[in-house]
Amino acid sequence: MSLPRTGAEIREAFLSFFEERGHARLPSDSLIPSDDPTLLFTGAGMNQFKDEFLGQGRPGLVRATTSQKCLRVPDLENVGRTPRHHTFFEMLGNFSFGDYFKEEAILWEWEFFTSTLGWDGERMVATVYKEDEEAFGIWHEVIGLPEERIFRFGEKENYWPAEAPSLGPNGPCGPCSELYFDLDPGQLPSTSGLAALPERFLEVGNFVFTQFNRQESGALAPLPQSNIDVGLGLERIAAVAQDAANNFETEIFKPLLASIQEIAGQDYGKDEDADVCMRRIADHARAVFFCIADGASPGKEGRAYVVRKILRRAVRDGISLGVREPFLASLLPAVIDSMGSAYPELEEQAPGIRTILQGEEEQFREVFQKGIVRLKSLLKEPRDGIFPGALGFELHDTYGFPVDITQVVVEEAGLRFDHVGYQAAMDEQRSRAREFSAITGDIFSASSAGILQSGGLEATEFLGWDQDEVPAIVLCILKGKEKIPSLESGEFGAVVLDKTPFYPEGGGQVGDQGSLVDSKGKVLFEVSDTQSAHPFVLHLGDAAGSLKVGQEVLAKISVSLRRATEIHHTATHLLHSAMKEVLGDAVRQAGSLVSKEKLRFDYTTEQAPTSEERKRIEELVQSEILKASPLATSFSTLNEARAAR
Ligand code: SER
Repeated sequence: MSLPRTGAEIREAFLSFFEERGHARLPSDSLIPSDDPTLLFTGAGMNQFKDEFLGQGRPGLVRATTSQKCLRVPDLENVGRTPRHHTFFEMLGNFSFGDYFKEEAILWEWEFFTSTLGWDGERMVATVYKEDEEAFGIWHEVIGLPEERIFRFGEKENYWPAEAPSLGPNGPCGPCSELYFDLDPGQLPSTSGLAALPERFLEVGNFVFTQFNRQESGALAPLPQSNIDVGLGLERIAAVAQDAANNFETEIFKPLLASIQEIAGQDYGKDEDADVCMRRIADHARAVFFCIADGASPGKEGRAYVVRKILRRAVRDGISLGVREPFLASLLPAVIDSMGSAYPELEEQAPGIRTILQGEEEQFREVFQKGIVRLKSLLKEPRDGIFPGALGFELHDTYGFPVDITQVVVEEAGLRFDHVGYQAAMDEQRSRAREFSAITGDIFSASSAGILQSGGLEATEFLGWDQDEVPAIVLCILKGKEKIPSLESGEFGAVVLDKTPFYPEGGGQVGDQGSLVDSKGKVLFEVSDTQSAHPFVLHLGDAAGSLKVGQEVLAKISVSLRRATEIHHTATHLLHSAMKEVLGDAVRQAGSLVSKEKLRFDYTTEQAPTSEERKRIEELVQSEILKASPLATSFSTLNEARAAR
């Protein structure tokens, strides 16, 4: 039988390998993490199993395997320039929740690579955490890897999250072991040499032994159960299996690169700058298609802004390649061809994805023109021979205007471009983005839910369906990621109660505001926002007096704000139903905003509604409002709710 070679074959081989070894084959989670407001995007296979790692997950689920759609943005600038960086990628994973541990994990992974994929074990090297004698022993004695091919690293390289023992965060963590493939075998380097040779040693798997719970004191207490979290990068494995120079030259990307070459009227492999553009378009197109299919459309804020930024970078590359018309939508069939059978949502959502791409791309092409105009006007201002890097960065960040074009135009005007200033502005923004998105190593740790759960806190009871005020007890106070015993007047924090009438932001509806008051009615805490950290509700705001853990309070929502918000929530349902009636079932909700002032309903459909259709929708909504039907609240699962619509 031939060895798995293509992305689809490797994915299937991996999932069936672990299925045969007692793992439940589960679907990829959405790119938009459900129940985890701390994450912008799903960045690792383990994200959907946080509860299972803490021993509080689905009963009976002790082994699972997935191929997870992942999106990571901190390395955006490297995509296309290096052989391996991606925003969107697939992570193959196998997980044990208190079941098997290091030995099985290492043995099975070794068997998968050397038997199922048929890789040469002589070309594999492993790394272990410097104090993890057990993992070292398994590689050396059980697998038989010679000592010189097992490298020991510290907690920066071989701990997950990185550096958790000394820097935190608190919560579950553990040492990890990585498996590398030697692309260019020869003399083996020293430990420091391995880290310095990313082109030679390709990391193909990361095995995390999630066995500790870091305490507030910094002590590492053993978790009630030891877990396994293995992640393998599918695109990298395909590159080795196909002997491809980089991930983009595998069959996973080939149809997409072929479409890009056709649209650009240029061949790949002739000019490095053009190749970088083509690789970046290939990466970014996949990212944007999958994000939109999972409901993250491009827009102005947060997650939507990230999607817009990725999309604009791809369009900008198209412009650099001389493509004059919107082109992204025409790349969709190539991605559906290669990935549609594993991810049917792409084909199902194709009409909506196309509509959104077309609109966004047209709009951006206009913005880009404005960037040129803005640059020309900046050049008219008096300068001391130097064009400030910060302005170049502003053009890049606001207009998506390529810095290389800025540089050419600036030099043509007889000025020098300040690269150092540009890089400083870029670094500053990047470190802000890292803090904000928590996508790098912090995937696990950033979760407030994880911090709270690790302290054994009971889930918050939500009573807000029919109560505006509820007597409650303060169970926990968080300041950033630290649990603290009390908040003093003027301090900002997040309060967890045993029960609450506060509705957390979700389903497009803004979180409730209100206050926590004492028995005399004195306000102790002003709640300015409510967020979900499932299964907890976080009341965010400023203390107006002294608030302590254990204290009894009366939790009161702002009734006027809630009622106004509810009106818009109900109106959103009326609008959606009227749109379906007038425009047909092709209308799909792509997001919504429900606040006290307004509602916004994002949707995708094949064609913009005509003015008659819009009028008819308005009439239908008005007539429902005039009926003043009583409102009923009912509980159902997401699928039941979808079926009932
Ligand atoms: N969570 C680990 C990673 O993302 C292994 O799956 O690398």
